[in-house]
Amino acid sequence: MSDQAADLVAALARLAAEAEQLIRAAPDGDALQRLKTEYLGRKAGRVTAILKALPSLESEARRAVGQAANQAKAAIEQQLADAEAARAATAPPAAGDLTMPARPVWRGALHPVTIVADEICEIFHELGFTRAIGPEAETERNNFTALNFPPEHPALDMQPTFYLGQGTLLRSHTSPVQIRVMEAYQPPIRVTIPGRCYRRDPFDASHAPVFTQVEGLCVDEGISFVDLKAAITFFARRFFASGVRVRFRPSFFPFTEPSAEVDVECQLCHGSGCPACKGTGWMEILGCGMVDPAVFEAVGVDAEHYTGWAFGMGLDRAAMVRYGIPDIRMLSDADMRFHRQFVDSV
Ligand code: PHE
Repeated sequence: MSDQAADLVAALARLAAEAEQLIRAAPDGDALQRLKTEYLGRKAGRVTAILKALPSLESEARRAVGQAANQAKAAIEQQLADAEAARAATAPPAAGDLTMPARPVWRGALHPVTIVADEICEIFHELGFTRAIGPEAETERNNFTALNFPPEHPALDMQPTFYLGQGTLLRSHTSPVQIRVMEAYQPPIRVTIPGRCYRRDPFDASHAPVFTQVEGLCVDEGISFVDLKAAITFFARRFFASGVRVRFRPSFFPFTEPSAEVDVECQLCHGSGCPACKGTGWMEILGCGMVDPAVFEAVGVDAEHYTGWAFGMGLDRAAMVRYGIPDIRMLSDADMRFHRQFVDSV
């Protein structure tokens, strides 16, 4: 190799080393850009200048210098690319207008029926009740037969119940979960069971084919109607108002005996009578009663040993009373203007 060629190869090595140091020290993207032009620029780049001298060399020297120049160029390009990538990874984003107000974030809210269900379960939790849930698609046996509905009961008709197939249906109340709980656990049992139910009801301001109930079930030794009355009264005074009047009216359910329906003083007129309570001064809130021995027999609980009570309460109306909601369809319309009102619930 000629002396001139050797000098050029050495110069290229120095250029590459020098460029590497400067690239490492470059404070920002602009500095990197300037270094790129300085070393690799097509017109006046320092590596380019050496490449331009190639044609004047003899072929052997040309090959050696050409190779060294290409190596230097590749090394510098690689260092520039690495530095650029590292800078992009750590650089703060370009600052916009930092004083611009942030766009409001929609936080989401609990559904009013969920709020009420949680509240009811919490009140019974104070009395030692835990929560249970069950499936919305049920067997006819759990929904009706094991609950002592006679086969000719009108609720078993196609009309009021959504059947899914032979022997399967969308549960028409949360009471089938009583069956599931009693088959899975030995007494003492104290559970609240919130959940959606389905009936082929008209869809108007006060009826919906999908609604929510909370079931309550208490099974133990020595449980009597007095315990039922005390628990329901405790609940009503917690949930509605501390001094609220509560009354128990005799009623009938296939799975409880005796059975009752419970009214509380109308929360709108406080008993004087208004359109909401159809002038009676009372609002019906739930059905309840002592667990029928036939139900205990269906699930294998010894009715000689244990007694129990149960209740079932519709939540849609409770939520409507609590929040002054005039139409049950608002609960399922998914109108965000409605749901945003409950954002403080979260
Ligand atoms: N399952 C009954 C209904 O849906 C309510 C109920 C539950 C009544 C438990 C008594 C005991 O109307």
